Amino acid sequence: MAGPFSDVERSIFAAKEVLSEDHQPDQILERDEEIEEYRHALEDVLFGRTPQNIMLYGKAGLGKTAVTKYMMEALQTEVTERPDAEELHVHELNCNGKTVYAVVRTLVNELLPDTASDFPKRGLGTADAFEELYGQLDRLGGTHLIVFDEIDHLDAVDTLLYELPRARSIGHITNSKVGVIGISNNYTFRQSLSPKVKDTLMESEISFSPYDASELRAILADRADRAFVDGVCEESAIARAAAIAAKDRGNARQAIDLLRVGGEVAKKRGDTHVDDTHIVAAQELVQRGRLRNRIRDQTQHAQLLLETLAYIEQHEEAPARSKAIKNRYEDVADSHAVAPLTTLKSIQNHLSDLHMLGFLRRTGQNHGEGGGRYYEYSLDLDPQIVLDIRREIEAAANPG
Ligand SMILES: Nc1ncnc2c1ncn2[C@@H]1O[C@H](COP(=O)(O)OP(=O)(O)OP(=O)(O)O)[C@@H](O)[C@H]1O
Ligand SMILES: [Mg+2]
Repeated sequence: MAGPFSDVERSIFAAKEVLSEDHQPDQILERDEEIEEYRHALEDVLFGRTPQNIMLYGKAGLGKTAVTKYMMEALQTEVTERPDAEELHVHELNCNGKTVYAVVRTLVNELLPDTASDFPKRGLGTADAFEELYGQLDRLGGTHLIVFDEIDHLDAVDTLLYELPRARSIGHITNSKVGVIGISNNYTFRQSLSPKVKDTLMESEISFSPYDASELRAILADRADRAFVDGVCEESAIARAAAIAAKDRGNARQAIDLLRVGGEVAKKRGDTHVDDTHIVAAQELVQRGRLRNRIRDQTQHAQLLLETLAYIEQHEEAPARSKAIKNRYEDVADSHAVAPLTTLKSIQNHLSDLHMLGFLRRTGQNHGEGGGRYYEYSLDLDPQIVLDIRREIEAAANPG
């Protein structure tokens, strides 16, 4: 019997996972210089020497993680062919929101034999964690490359970068070798390090610059080839996605997202090809999704004020003073059965925050003769989109 899924065919996507965030490409395109620098910095490993420390810099979506994965795999393969190289262990850790203790502990747990119990979460100090780490590194021997992604998010990063790179020279480890690879979005990271760390680190620096439209086109064409059914993805779709992302921040992740969402739009519309119109629709969807997340991150009262300003905008009463906004806001709060904030000052503080966050426009009015200065506010977004998003958020919070 024909069920609801029986006539689903691969119409647009041949391998959609190729456009997903966790897909690691076999081929890195348009990063020859960075790969060359990386290769140079890693060469020592092939000869059994202590690896150099490496710092990668660059904004989001520029290939730092993808290139690092690619280099680590290539190095692993090469090491097995080289008689002078020691066994290579690669460890990848994300530092976002972690303490040095937590990061070293994670590393220790990775190194511990399967039969050992985990290193304790609390009760011991960072020095104990380092001591255990050195013990485990020497127990295993070989060369260890430790990749710290988002290293600038780590608290007390100085301790980590002072300890690890010197571990061998000061005799904490004798049977193993360690190299640190740090990845950061923040170009000023090095300046934030303490002078003694700066002096001892001796790292190679590799910086990743934004992709331009033609580089993004090459990356996208390669992905599209494998992700879509033959002939489905048109040149105009690739060109448009590349152009949008290049104009924004040259982010390959954004370009790939646009292509995937563009494909979904085409599929949903029942179209047989993906072209630039689908990419434009995808961009709107993505922007809307981002705005939804930003609105959802606001406090309840800030959201109610956004909703209020959307109504004011639609009734063509904008820009409005905080007193008028407060009156309308009380009705809005009432309609959601929420007790409103009562002081004008608290409303003004929220309005000022929302303005700083880019949700609102603000204009100053001077009223001389002791009248003082006051501000008028209006929504800096499409009011209908704000109201739609608010409705979605409310519906998700109160299902049924
Ligand atoms: N040169 C490239 N060739 C092929 N794919 C690439 C290239 N650069 C980036 N990508 C792809 O783009 C996406 C984003 O890249 P990646 O995750 O490496 O960025 P990143 O620099 O680590 O960003 P973030 O700082 O946000 O972590 C991934 O899907 C990656 O596979
Ligand atoms: Mg990354």
